[in-house]
Amino acid sequence: MVEIKRQIALSIPDLKGNEEAYAVDAIRSTWISSTGRYVREFEKVFAGISGSKDAISVCNGTAALHLALLAMNVRPGDEVIVPSLTYIATANAVRYVGAEPVFADVSSETWCLNPEMLELAITRNTKGVIAVDLYGHPADMDAINHIAAIHGLWVIEDAAEAHTARYKGRLAGSLAKISTFSFYGNKIFTCGEGGAITLNDPELALRIRTLRGQGMDPNRQYYFPITGYNFRLNNVSCAILSAQLERADELITKRHRIFYLYREQLEGIPGVGFQPVADWAEPAPWLFSITINSAVFGCNRDQLSEYLRQNFVETRPFFIPLHTLPPFRKESTARGEYLPVTDALAESGINLPTHTFLTKDDIYYICDLIRDYRNSKL
Ligand SMILES: Cc1ncc(COP(=O)(O)O)c(C=O)c1O
Repeated sequence: MVEIKRQIALSIPDLKGNEEAYAVDAIRSTWISSTGRYVREFEKVFAGISGSKDAISVCNGTAALHLALLAMNVRPGDEVIVPSLTYIATANAVRYVGAEPVFADVSSETWCLNPEMLELAITRNTKGVIAVDLYGHPADMDAINHIAAIHGLWVIEDAAEAHTARYKGRLAGSLAKISTFSFYGNKIFTCGEGGAITLNDPELALRIRTLRGQGMDPNRQYYFPITGYNFRLNNVSCAILSAQLERADELITKRHRIFYLYREQLEGIPGVGFQPVADWAEPAPWLFSITINSAVFGCNRDQLSEYLRQNFVETRPFFIPLHTLPPFRKESTARGEYLPVTDALAESGINLPTHTFLTKDDIYYICDLIRDYRNSKL
């Protein structure tokens, strides 16, 4: 077994290209707020990377969701169907606009919103759907868009974790009326805190840009026809993002190699399951994720995670299902929500370290630990 005695982090941002130079350039230019050449450049390049006509930078992925819901005119009393196996921001944003998130189960074949379960969750108050591309895997967007269209609902794609993923050849970010992204420090492309909205509808884009900038009329300074928000992203952050996007191929290729190595090393260990890949999906290599079947593996996910921690490997459990968390539990119970696929995945899933500084030996070490721990339980 390879002996590694340093901490292996779950995630480390890779800022080794022009990130520092461009950030310094933005600072020296004195354009450090939300106007400046890097904002324009980032938005232009990111629109291309997400297969959309327009990209709007915002201060984080949660604000992107919030703006998307405001643009869809969501109101108190409305219901929005969301998966429960996602980061809490997806459901929090629904609450920010006074609406109620209704949870539907995910599919075991994608770990994303199950279109059949989505249809069963629709009520007369449902106005729309947020489909999440979980852990980099796109949701089954044709099926979801089709069901939504039949029922007169809009769809938002939460692609926070799925930069450059593809669905039937089409890019994440172009798979719904509006898509949202996060550039938080652990994401494939990052500037620490940041987000974007991508879309193809110029009218909606103008409305979102207006809402993002305190509601100011784009043609009349200091005239505010609507109540807006300050959700802009600054030029220094966009400088960092511009450098990240220059390296998109490099960053994605390095992460794919890590995914490949994990898969090769962990294949065949009884009780270890992998993130499924639908035949129409090209997932983004965000966080390598496995499931632990405790009956077969000999111990549960949390015990494995603790063992890895003791051996200097940081891991992360899957998201706790949102419908079981205090802000949503009461309402979910009243609706009688039963989400067995979500519950089973949340209990058994674990994200392993995934970043571009991992060496082959790091991955061999992590996989050896998992194999040896399993064997010690026999
Ligand atoms: C699925 C999902 N949606 C939304 C967000 C929110 O993004 P941010 O943290 O940039 O606000 C995240 C993650 O960070 C996420 O993973």
